[in-house]
Amino acid sequence: MSLKDSIKSVKNDFLTDFATVSDSSGADLLKQKYLSRNGLVTNLFKQLGQVSKEDKPLFGQLLNQLKIDLNDKLNSLDSTSDTVSDADKIDIFMPGKIYPSGSIHILEQTMLDIKKIFSEIGFNVAYGPEIDDDYHNFSALNVPEHHPARDMQDTFFVDKDIVLRTHTSNVQIHLMEQEEPPLRFIVPGRVYRNEAISYKSYCLFHQVEGLFVDKNVSFSQLKGCLEYFAKKMFGANRKMRWRPSYFPFTEPSAEVDIWDEQRNQWMEILGCGMVDPEVFKSVGYDTNVWRGYAFGMGVERIAMLKHDIDDIRLFYNGDVRFLRQF
Ligand code: DAH
Repeated sequence: MSLKDSIKSVKNDFLTDFATVSDSSGADLLKQKYLSRNGLVTNLFKQLGQVSKEDKPLFGQLLNQLKIDLNDKLNSLDSTSDTVSDADKIDIFMPGKIYPSGSIHILEQTMLDIKKIFSEIGFNVAYGPEIDDDYHNFSALNVPEHHPARDMQDTFFVDKDIVLRTHTSNVQIHLMEQEEPPLRFIVPGRVYRNEAISYKSYCLFHQVEGLFVDKNVSFSQLKGCLEYFAKKMFGANRKMRWRPSYFPFTEPSAEVDIWDEQRNQWMEILGCGMVDPEVFKSVGYDTNVWRGYAFGMGVERIAMLKHDIDDIRLFYNGDVRFLRQF
């Protein structure tokens, strides 16, 4: 083969090889194959010695041009496909980004604990409106017109007949309006009271209401249920006491206190009682057939007693030093 044909053939081979290569390591291999000391192009230079004197300059030029072309092509591959701008470079040694994860607020955790305890003994979970009419919050619950609980001091009014609910007991009425007995529900939710703020009282707080209606419901069942709850929540050794009390919607009524270790005194956590027949009359339940018990517990106070939190306001001021403890 003449040198001219050899040049052509090496060039064609190179172009075929080059088409299959896309990165700098491929380019390095081609450099090796064509341009190294024993490369195909270098070998062509060695053949220059056999060319006649007059033809030498021409072939010398052709070969130089070939070498330049090949180099250019290989270098272009270097810079197009493989060179990443500084901005796009990934530094694999950079420390990872830390995404701070939130946590469940201690009040929500307490609600979850309460829901779990009652769910396990057959209570369903229901919710109701925080803004309600006077009827559901008071009248239907046998709270008479002149009752102090209706006093402007205690209730936030939205309108003449519309209130921010003062307790979750309003949902007792909604549930019984919607469902036929028997029923067994707990109702977690937020309630509002326009009362003096202290370490254990705030203008808004959370309650979990309980309502059980069936044919043979007794006070001893209520007692058993709430004692079971207190043991699960606070442990078997926590001191607990029952006090007779009064609520318009229950008869008889009682309150439960838990011993506050920090203050060395009792703290009330719930009110309860047997559903007053007047309440059943409001929702059209037959008072000769149905009996019920009900309770309403304060979630903040339960959380305070369980976790040694000494001020209810801590739940609401968003101080992460407080929140991080739980
Ligand atoms: N609603 C009462 C309160 O907020 C608590 C309560 C007492 C709820 C007795 C009840 C109950 O269901 O039977 O103070």
